[in-house]
Amino acid sequence: MQGVCKRFDNVVALAGVALDVDRGEVHAICGENGAGKSTLMKILSGVYTPDEGEIRIDGEPLRIQGLHHAQALGIVMIHQELNLVPHLTVAENIWLGREPRRGWFVDQARQREGARACLQRLAVDVDPDAQVSTLSLAQQQMVEIAKALSMDARLLIMDEPTSSLGETDSAQLLRVVKDLKRAGVGIVYISHRLDELDEIVDRVTILRDGHYIATRRWAETSIDEIVGLMVGRELNQQFPPPTRQPCADVLLRVRGLRRDGAFGPLDFELRRGEILGFAGLVGAGRTEVARAIFGADAVSGGDIKLHGQPVHIRSPRDAIRAGIAYVSEDRKAHGLAVKMSVAHNISLANLGALADRFGFIDAARERQTAERFIGQLGIRTPSPDQVARLLSGGNQQKVVIAKWLFRQARVILFDEPTRGIDVGAKYAIYELMDQLAAQGVGIVLISSDLPEVLGMSDRVAVFRQGQLAQVLDARHCSQHDVMHHASVGPTETRALEPSHS
Ligand SMILES: Nc1ncnc2c1ncn2[C@@H]1O[C@H](COP(=O)(O)OP(=O)(O)OP(=O)(O)O)[C@@H](O)[C@H]1O
Ligand SMILES: [Mg+2]
Repeated sequence: MQGVCKRFDNVVALAGVALDVDRGEVHAICGENGAGKSTLMKILSGVYTPDEGEIRIDGEPLRIQGLHHAQALGIVMIHQELNLVPHLTVAENIWLGREPRRGWFVDQARQREGARACLQRLAVDVDPDAQVSTLSLAQQQMVEIAKALSMDARLLIMDEPTSSLGETDSAQLLRVVKDLKRAGVGIVYISHRLDELDEIVDRVTILRDGHYIATRRWAETSIDEIVGLMVGRELNQQFPPPTRQPCADVLLRVRGLRRDGAFGPLDFELRRGEILGFAGLVGAGRTEVARAIFGADAVSGGDIKLHGQPVHIRSPRDAIRAGIAYVSEDRKAHGLAVKMSVAHNISLANLGALADRFGFIDAARERQTAERFIGQLGIRTPSPDQVARLLSGGNQQKVVIAKWLFRQARVILFDEPTRGIDVGAKYAIYELMDQLAAQGVGIVLISSDLPEVLGMSDRVAVFRQGQLAQVLDARHCSQHDVMHHASVGPTETRALEPSHS
C-alpha cells in the first residue's frame, strides 16, 4: 500500500500511509487509539475505498472492489468488533454465505465437521451446534478467528485478536499465528499488548494521527522506541506513583454471595478509597461476581452492605441508585449506545443532573459536560455530537468510562477498562482511577493484565473456579504469587468463561 489517504467528512483518518507485507511475515501496526490502524486495514480488506493511494498485490496494481473481491484475492480480516450473528450456531456463522451444499441443501454434516476442524486447530472447546449468543466474549472471539482460518487466507489481518482473550487462549492464538507464518501466509497484526508482539513479529509500522511515522525490523527496535514513535513524546512511567492511602472504613461488604453453578459463596470487603484488584484466569468468575453486585444477573443468595446499610439490588437500576457503577468489558453490548452521540452517551446514566426544573435536558450543559470529559480523557472525536459508532475502539471505551465518571458513583466496578486502549490513554485512565480513589470512591479492578492489577491495586483478590482463592497485599506480592493462587487447584480444567446471554 502506498500513499493511502482516507477522510470521513471532516476527519482525516489516513494521510498518505504506506505498508508492505511479505509472504510469511508477521507485520505489526502500532499507534494510539484513532491513529488509523483499523481504517487502513478496512481499506485493504475491501470495507472502504481509499480516497487516494495505490495497492499492489504480487506487484500488480489493483482496485479492491468490496469484501468478496478481497476474499477472492485471499485477503481476510478479523475485525476488532465482533461480527457474528447471535441467533445462528457456531458452525452456521463460520460458513455464513459459503455453506457447503449437497444438491439444493446445506450439507449440515460437512458444515459441522468443517467447523469442528477449525475450532480444534485453535484448541477451543466450543460446540459447533451451540448458538453464538450463549457464548462468552472470549469464545465468540475464537469463533471469529476460526471463521477466518476456514477461508484459507494468503493475507490475514488480525485487528486486536487477543483483546478479549485470557492467557491460555492468547497463547494458543500466537501458536496458530506462528503456524500460518510457516505456511507462508502474510499476517498483519494489530495489538495494544506490545509484550505479546515480541513472540511473533518480524516488522512493525507505526502510525500517528493518520500519518505514516516509521517501519522497523522488530529485532532492531525496542518497546521504548515504538512507544516513543507512537505518542511522539517521552513516556517514562507506566503507573501513577503510589500516593493514596485507603482508609479503614469498609465501604462495600459482601457476605455469602453466590450464584449456584457459577460462583461463591464469597465474602469480601472494599474500603473507602481502595482499589481492589480481581485477578484470575478467564472463566474464574470475576465478571459474574461484578455483574451480580451490579444486579445484572440474579444471585442464589448472599447480602451486600454499603456503608453498613443493607442494600437490595435486583437490577442495575437498583445498583445505580445505590451508587454502584459497572464499566463493562463488552462495551458494544452493555456499555455504549452505538447509535447515540458521544454527548448523549456520557449523560445517559445521569440525566437528572442535566435536567432543568421542568425536567427538560439542558442541551448546553450536556454539551459542556461532554466537552469537559472529552478534554479530560483525551477522547478523539470531531465533536460531542459525533455518533459513538464512528469512534475508534479505544475512544468508545473512554466514552463509557466518562459516563460513569459523570455519574459520580461511590463504588465503580471496572471490568477490563484498558482493553484495546493505547499506552498514553491507559495512563490517563489510571490517573483517573487514582484520583477517584483519593476522593473516597471504592474501585474494583477486574483485569487479565497482571502488571496492571499489581501496579494499580491496594489488595488483589485472586479468583479460581468461582471461589476466592486468596486476597493478597498488592505491594508485597509478585505476578508469580497471583498466578500460583489463580491456577493451582484440585481439578484444573481448561478455563472457559461461563456463558451469560
Ligand atoms: N466510518 C467512520 N466515520 C467517521 N469517522 C471514522 C470512521 N471510521 C473511523 N473514523 C475515525 O478515523 C480515525 C481513525 O480510526 P481507526 O478506527 O482507524 O483508529 P485505530 O487506529 O484503529 O484506533 P483503535 O486503537 O482505538 O482501534 C478516528 O478518529 C475515528 O474516529
Ligand atoms: Mg482499531
